[in-house]
Amino acid sequence: MSIEKVIRVAQAGGPELMRFEEVEVGKPGPGEVRIRHHACGVNYIDVYQRSGVYPLPMPLNLGMEASGVIEAVGEGVTHLAAGDRACYASQPPGAYSTARVLPARSVFKLPAAIGFDTAAALIFKGLTAQYLLRKTLPAGGLQAGDHVLFHAAAGGVGLIACQWAKALGWQLIATAGSDEKCALALENGAAHAINYRREKNFAAKVREITGGKGVKVVYDAVGADTFEGSIDSLAPFGLMVSYGNASGVVPPVQVGMLAAKGSLYLTRPTLFTHIATRESAQAMADDLFSFVESGAIQPNIGRRYALADAAQAHRDLESRATTGSSVLFV
Ligand SMILES: NC(=O)c1ccc[n+]([C@@H]2O[C@H](COP(=O)([O-])OP(=O)(O)OC[C@H]3O[C@@H](n4cnc5c(N)ncnc54)[C@H](OP(=O)(O)O)[C@@H]3O)[C@@H](O)[C@H]2O)c1
Repeated sequence: MSIEKVIRVAQAGGPELMRFEEVEVGKPGPGEVRIRHHACGVNYIDVYQRSGVYPLPMPLNLGMEASGVIEAVGEGVTHLAAGDRACYASQPPGAYSTARVLPARSVFKLPAAIGFDTAAALIFKGLTAQYLLRKTLPAGGLQAGDHVLFHAAAGGVGLIACQWAKALGWQLIATAGSDEKCALALENGAAHAINYRREKNFAAKVREITGGKGVKVVYDAVGADTFEGSIDSLAPFGLMVSYGNASGVVPPVQVGMLAAKGSLYLTRPTLFTHIATRESAQAMADDLFSFVESGAIQPNIGRRYALADAAQAHRDLESRATTGSSVLFV
């Protein structure tokens, strides 16, 4: 048992409710590990959980992504040992902390070439990019040269997706909220970029870029503000992947609209289904690590904060001030 520090909220609300408090952390139970953190990643899901968009029991320890050193493993855990460098993307929340106990299922041994800060900036967002670009594909898959549309492409998940799409030979059309963010998406491998704060009709721009055809898939985590334009950007039989709601939750959809717009497919996936088994989670992490080790994917750490300053990291993320990944240092 030790006394550790954690960022938590007692009720849903704004970043001002985030407190840096002491908690007792014990030994890992069966199937669990105890890890001492070096760095923690900040994700938009942390904002949804803090604000109540995704309701969770309170008080709530925040954070879904971190890296550090394994201190102890519980009964039945065979893929990790005390002393291993590791990182994770996992439920339950609680990664904004100095040390914790959590299920070992989606805790991964860190390859020697990947540092703690890179891992904390990478693992939750990179596994998300993995299941989106490698597993959430239109019928017939995607070939080199195909166009895809990716919103908020200068963000944490977005810049990893730009790099990964380029490595796969796809033409990624990025959207982002400023000319600087568009330039960053292009530097990271996007083939085209649209400033969707200026070009409100981004679907018309997408048609222009694709010679009128539209794209085979749209990856949209902006949600309410972009859903309709995303649908209008798709080619017949295209796939709409709605995987987040940074601008607000997508209102209910008329299913018949999918027929009228060209026999479209619609999915609303979450990383947690994909990492629900140890085998699936490890296979995804291995795929991600191989692209990082080859140099094709290099996470961008846009901002660094002390763990105690997590509330400022939330304010910056929610105000669209960040690019790439934000990392909290323990
Ligand atoms: N379903 C899943 O499995 C899953 C997993 C991970 C992440 N996600 C989702 O993926 C998205 C990206 O996550 P992230 O952690 O990498 O965050 P992020 O992209 O670094 O930050 C969110 C970005 O969304 C854009 N945005 C557009 N309208 C916004 C608004 N009204 N308020 C705030 N931001 C707005 C902003 O970029 P611009 O200024 O360029 O518009 C902002 O930088 C989030 O929506 C997250 O929930 C989903």
